[in-house]
This record gives sequence, structure tokens and C-alpha cells, in this order.
Amino acid sequence: MSESDPAKHQAAWTAAALVESGMVVGLGSGTTASLTIRLLGDRRLAEGLEFVGVPTSGATEELARSLAIPLRELDEVAFLDLNLDGADEVDSQFRMIKGRGGALLREKIVVSTARRKVTIITAEKRVERLGATMPLPIEVSLFGLKHTQAKLAQLGASTSIRTQSDGRLYLTDGGNGIIDCRFAESDDPEGLDLRLRQVAGVLDTGFFFGLCDLLVVGHTDRVELFEA
Ligand code: A5P
Repeated sequence: MSESDPAKHQAAWTAAALVESGMVVGLGSGTTASLTIRLLGDRRLAEGLEFVGVPTSGATEELARSLAIPLRELDEVAFLDLNLDGADEVDSQFRMIKGRGGALLREKIVVSTARRKVTIITAEKRVERLGATMPLPIEVSLFGLKHTQAKLAQLGASTSIRTQSDGRLYLTDGGNGIIDCRFAESDDPEGLDLRLRQVAGVLDTGFFFGLCDLLVVGHTDRVELFEA
């Protein structure tokens, strides 16, 4: 879905309005986060809003720089006041899948340091069961990639090593691979996450648990807010 989706706009506006001068703000990745960052760039110019951003990916860093948003490395700040990021799926317990865009490990490290964690989505991303609409992205070491894939398959996943449109291996900003995994429907994503993390070669999963305090849901004509 593109940045021009009106529901996405509604949600991004609401999220961008949460930023106050003086804040250190985690800047997520993906189209929804990008739209939010552009709106923050507009607020800087129109209102003189002064904040510092911590980007979660190279693409986000490039966008923020093009908007002259001042940036810091994560290790240069003690904590983030606010993190603004999208998600691919969110269930009723605010559990999420992220990483369709490939930025999951860095996104998880950044959001984990935030005092307030805001997730910005459009309504169709709310699901009853995680994994309903997409495979679970898993960030893995390139070393022994095929062996890691085989071990994930032994856990019941149908697996696919992510590639780029030209067929070359997809690499995350950290230089790792991604294996997209489809599992049979599970009521226990936490248990599955634990099993996945025990596989040598797995660096992180796209499951994000306990990392959403406020869910902003955009519709074409309104926004819903849910506090976790
Ligand atoms: C990036 O890897 C992801 O975690 C994104 O946050 C997620 O895919 C949502 O992206 P969109 O806002 O583009 O749907």
C-alpha cells in the first residue's frame, strides 16, 4: 500500500501530532513511518518544532536527512521519549508482526529503549491471529543460512529465503538475511517465538511483544486510538 492511502494519512497525522519540542523520537521504517516523518518535517518548518530523531534503518536516515531533521545514533541518547513506527499485523493483545520491509532487528532494538511506544497502522492490519495475512520474517546470520532454514522447517515452517527483485539475496541494514516462515495457525506466538530463538543462526524474529503502548488505527475518515 502506498503513502497516499488516506487511512494511512489519518493515522500518520495523529502520530506526528504526538511529538513535542525537546523530545528524542525513534523514527520507524516503512511507508507509514515515512509518511509520519514527512509530516514531522512539515511541522519543523511550519511550527519550529524542535526534536531529535533516532532512525531505525538506512532508508529512514536518508529520508530524515533530506528533511533536515536532526539525528542521533541510538547509543548517543539515554532513552527515547517516543517511538513512532508501523507494523504489518497487530492482534487484540497488541502483539505484532513486523519486518515485511526488512528492518526488524534494528526496529526492535530502537523501540525497546522508548518510554512511549506508538504503533501506526491502517485498519486491515488488525488480525485475530498473527500470521493470518503474511509469513513471519526471521532475521538470520548469512553463515550457515541453509542449515538455519532446514532447522526452521523442522519446527513446522514452510520457509523462503528473502531475495530482491533481481533474484539476489536480500540483506538487512546489519548485513543479515531474512527467512520468511509460514506456520500453521497457532494460539501461542510466545511459545513459538521461544522455540525459534533457540535455533542457532536466528538473530531475531518479527514477533514484537510488549512493544506497543498506543495503537493508532487509521480509517479513511477517522482515527481510533487504543491504549495497551
Ligand atoms: C519494516 O521492516 C517494517 O517493520 C514496517 O514497520 C512494517 O512493514 C510496516 O510497513 P508499512 O508501513 O510500509 O506497511
